[in-house]
Amino acid sequence: MNSPLPLHPRHRFPPDFVWGVATSAFQIEGAATADGKGESIWDRFCRQPGAIADGSNGDIACDHYHRLEADLDLIAGLGVDAYRFSMSWPRVQPDGRGAVNEAGLAFYERLVDGLLARGIKPYLTLNHWDLPQALQDAGGWAARDTVQRFVDYARLVAARLGSRVASITTHNEPWVIAVLGHETGLFAPGQRHRGTAMQVAHHLLLSHGLALQALRADGCPARLGIVLNLSPIGPATDSPEDVAAARLEDGRSVRWYVDPLFKGAYPDDVWQHLGGDAPHVEPGDLDAIATPMDFLGINYYTRGVVSASGAWSAQTSGKPLTDMGWEIVPEGLTELLVRMHRDWTLPPLYVKENGAAFRDTLEHTPGGARVHDGERIDYIASHIAAVGDAMAQGVPMAGYMVWSLMDNFEWASGYAKRFGIVHVDYATQVRTPKDSYLWYRDFLLAQARARALVAA
Ligand code: FCB
Repeated sequence: MNSPLPLHPRHRFPPDFVWGVATSAFQIEGAATADGKGESIWDRFCRQPGAIADGSNGDIACDHYHRLEADLDLIAGLGVDAYRFSMSWPRVQPDGRGAVNEAGLAFYERLVDGLLARGIKPYLTLNHWDLPQALQDAGGWAARDTVQRFVDYARLVAARLGSRVASITTHNEPWVIAVLGHETGLFAPGQRHRGTAMQVAHHLLLSHGLALQALRADGCPARLGIVLNLSPIGPATDSPEDVAAARLEDGRSVRWYVDPLFKGAYPDDVWQHLGGDAPHVEPGDLDAIATPMDFLGINYYTRGVVSASGAWSAQTSGKPLTDMGWEIVPEGLTELLVRMHRDWTLPPLYVKENGAAFRDTLEHTPGGARVHDGERIDYIASHIAAVGDAMAQGVPMAGYMVWSLMDNFEWASGYAKRFGIVHVDYATQVRTPKDSYLWYRDFLLAQARARALVAA
């Protein structure tokens, strides 16, 4: 293929480095009511007028639920070591409590077995945002009882799949669930109250720690951890006001999660700032949250720039932007990883999501359909190199995963934002590997050849 970039980012990666690609249940599965699946908060949220930019929903999405085998072949065709997917909680427990919905669980058994048959390690995420609506009706993540419901769900899943998957992530991006879901209201369940958001964040972290303890007590052999969305956060200018605002934002989006997980304490400055919106914490909660993990997953897309007046704009920063309007800053990933390694004692780190939306066009050529997404190749290659730069500075990195395998339902943005390395025509469900898929495949082949040389 005609790769516009050199195949190798400038680094060699160790032979046991895990290369992968990621998706999540609500964004690709569709089959919203099939085989006894219950309603999730995202099913409900999509029906709220104005909630989703294009008025769409996840009812069909990529219809992955009905196209599993073909999609598994697409994953296998990449030559990845691992596939990161999430389970829809209401598919497995329609009301978020009680007996397993066997038909729903069977789908994930087919998925996991299909990966194993193709030599791909399953990386399972328990909660990628689609809480059962029945639990939301009982108070959702703001209610302490949901913590125990999650622990029960985690145990039930691990009892069935724990010995077949390589890794179990409790939650994907608790900041997003807490803040976008409960403070700004841009995501499900669409609430707007800071105190609620902080209680939600606390219950997510607590349920993570208690689930880890329960799975270990049950003898679950999978490696256990959490995935956080993190960015380096800097001030727009050197003014003391901007510096203070950036420090607080770093506190709210980074330290508020990493400190309790790895130091067993919430950061004082943020706690003071929150005043009456600080969460209710019971004795023993912080010890549970700090239960040791086998890995920490990090999702990285862009940096954060903060000004006290809110005047700063990515549109005028001079950096290239993706179709989400996010600045493309690969060196921000190196900066973030180096800082993580410096400021906390951490288990092995993975980049669990990294990728970009661009306005792709499907071209019909005599040789077949093509998508020339050179910008996405450039984005992925430069960020892989940024991971290598962090490793060269001593950060122990265990893996990297592209977001996403295929175009999918991008939450409040609907289907207009395309993150896939495989193009999806939503009218026909035809999948077309983009140039970035072919590039990643060739890159992984080169990595595999280098590994074989090392082994020989
Ligand atoms: C992350 C989400 C993922 C996807 C990407 C673009 O925050 O985890 O589901 O939407 O952003």
